[in-house]
Amino acid sequence: MTYPVIGEHLYKHYKKQVVLDDVSLTLRESEIYGLIGPSGAGKTTLVRILLGLEKADGGRVELFEQAPTLNAFRSLGYMAQSDALYNELSAYQNLEFFAAIQGMRGKEKKRRIREVAKNVGLENDLKKSVSQFSGGMRRRLSLAAALVHEPRLYLLDEPTVGLDPLIRRDIWRLFHYLRSKGATMIVTTHVMDEVAQCDRVGLLSEGHIIAEGAPKELMRQYGVSTIEDVFLVREGAKS
Ligand SMILES: Nc1ncnc2c1ncn2[C@@H]1O[C@H](COP(=O)(O)OP(=O)(O)OP(=O)(O)O)[C@@H](O)[C@H]1O
Ligand SMILES: [Mg+2]
Repeated sequence: MTYPVIGEHLYKHYKKQVVLDDVSLTLRESEIYGLIGPSGAGKTTLVRILLGLEKADGGRVELFEQAPTLNAFRSLGYMAQSDALYNELSAYQNLEFFAAIQGMRGKEKKRRIREVAKNVGLENDLKKSVSQFSGGMRRRLSLAAALVHEPRLYLLDEPTVGLDPLIRRDIWRLFHYLRSKGATMIVTTHVMDEVAQCDRVGLLSEGHIIAEGAPKELMRQYGVSTIEDVFLVREGAKS
C-alpha cells in the first residue's frame, strides 16, 4: 500500500506563537480523513504545509511516498478556505482556467467542466459572471475547480462552509463516490455531522493531534454518543 500523505514531526511557529508542535499524520489510500479542532488550532496551516504551500520549521512531508514536486501537485485537488476565483470571469471561464493549468485540453476539458459543474449543482450557472455568485455558489465553484482534473488526493479546507443542508448532503455523497473510485481526502470542517461521515478523524488542538481514530472508535473511547461530545470533552476539559 502506498500512503498518499505522510507528515512526520511537523513544527510551525509564527513569531512567538507555536502553531504545530510535533504533528504527525498519515493518510491511507481511499480514506476520508476529517481534520477538526478549534478555530485557530492550525488546521489550515497543516493543510498548507502538506501541500507544500507553506514551509514547516521542521519535519518531513511525503506525497505518494515522494518529496512533494510540481508533478505531485497535478495529482492534488486543493480547495482553500477562502475562495480563489476570478470575479470578472464567468463560472465556465474559471473552470476552464483551472482545467488548463492542470494540463487539460479540448473535448475532454469541456466534458469535465460540464461534469463537475453538474456535480456541484452549478450546471445552469456556468455563463454567469462569478461577481454575481452568492457565497455558497462561490464555494461550490471552488470545489468544482479542485475536482476538474480528477486528482487522486484532495485537500479540502472547509469545503461546505455556508452551504445549505441539501447541497451539503449531495457534496458528501460525491465525496463518498470519489472515495469509492480510489480517491483519498483530507477535509477540515466544524460541522460535526460531516465528521461522522469520515473514515478517520484527527482532533488538532494546541499544536498536537490529541485524538485520532474512526468516529465510532473515538466515541467509544470517550464514552460519548456524538463526535461533538468527543470534541467538547477534550476541549472542555481545559476550561
Ligand atoms: N501567515 C501567518 N502569519 C501569522 N500568523 C498566522 C499566519 N497564518 C496563520 N497564523 C496563525 O496561526 C494560527 C493557526 O491558524 P490556522 O488558520 O491554521 O487555524 P485554523 O485551525 O485553520 O482555524 P479556522 O478553524 O478558524 O480556520 C492562528 O493563530 C493564526 O492567527
Ligand atoms: Mg482554517
